[in-house]
Amino acid sequence: MTTIDLHGKTGVVFGVANHSSIAWAIAQALHDAGVNLAVVYQSERLKDRVEKLVEGWDNVTLLECDVTDDANIKNVFDEMGKRFGSLSIAIHSVAYAHKEDLDGEFSSTSRKGFQDALDISAYSLLPVARYAAPLMTEGGSILAVTFEASQRVYPGYNVMGTAKAALENEVRQIASDLGQDNIRINAVSAGPLDTLSSRAISHYRDMKRIHRERSPMRRNITAEEVAKTALFLLSDMASGITGEIVHVDTGYNIMGI
Ligand SMILES: NC(=O)c1ccc[n+]([C@@H]2O[C@H](COP(=O)([O-])OP(=O)(O)OC[C@H]3O[C@@H](n4cnc5c(N)ncnc54)[C@H](O)[C@@H]3O)[C@@H](O)[C@H]2O)c1
Repeated sequence: MTTIDLHGKTGVVFGVANHSSIAWAIAQALHDAGVNLAVVYQSERLKDRVEKLVEGWDNVTLLECDVTDDANIKNVFDEMGKRFGSLSIAIHSVAYAHKEDLDGEFSSTSRKGFQDALDISAYSLLPVARYAAPLMTEGGSILAVTFEASQRVYPGYNVMGTAKAALENEVRQIASDLGQDNIRINAVSAGPLDTLSSRAISHYRDMKRIHRERSPMRRNITAEEVAKTALFLLSDMASGITGEIVHVDTGYNIMGI
């Protein structure tokens, strides 16, 4: 993969569950670019798998963090501070909704289901930015991963569409907060990719097929394409870009029908 030189930078990636995670594609791109990385996984259950993924990497830190607890998130950044002193890059590639809230009528979403989806998939970006920013003493770049269901209705995506709308709004508000400290934040809006999370969405297969059939480029994207755009946004090549939602979707979002 063509790369950008990020040697000397430090970064943290939230959301690696397995080899198909978007976070893993981004982590690999950052590692290849020379970033000193911390890879964050949700729970003990994922530890072995994530350890296997990074086998052979000499400059990697593995940390566990459930983002429903602010203290856990703070702990990740405290560790980053202790190990590296400062931070240049933070990736938020985390989402969750209960399976029953990813099907049927949106108005049937339970209050608890709504709260959990918004808490994990949207709120969690706030503490990530809050605790990352003080470590970004020489400026920095934060990246979130979103989906076009923030803007348009994708039956089956349901409450996750609401979470993505919140997440994208947060990207703009955080960009406004942190811009004067030379800290940028953007989101990549990715087309459908086969991952653990997408498998939980009803109609995912149709969504993927329709993207392939109707997008200007008549194909689906790859995780590597998301990672390449992430690398660009996280690097100095994108030094004037903040608060943006960049589509990596072979152009699907521009189509009317
Ligand atoms: N796969 C797609 O088609 C697609 C498209 C656009 C956007 N996205 C977004 O990409 C991001 C990554 O998803 P993915 O598709 O790579 O799937 P994934 O399942 O590999 O990644 C989701 C991650 O969220 C983590 N997570 C869930 N609850 C958590 C919690 N309480 N604490 C900490 N971590 C938690 C999971 O452990 C997992 O690592 C998500 O924001 C998702 O909405 C995915």
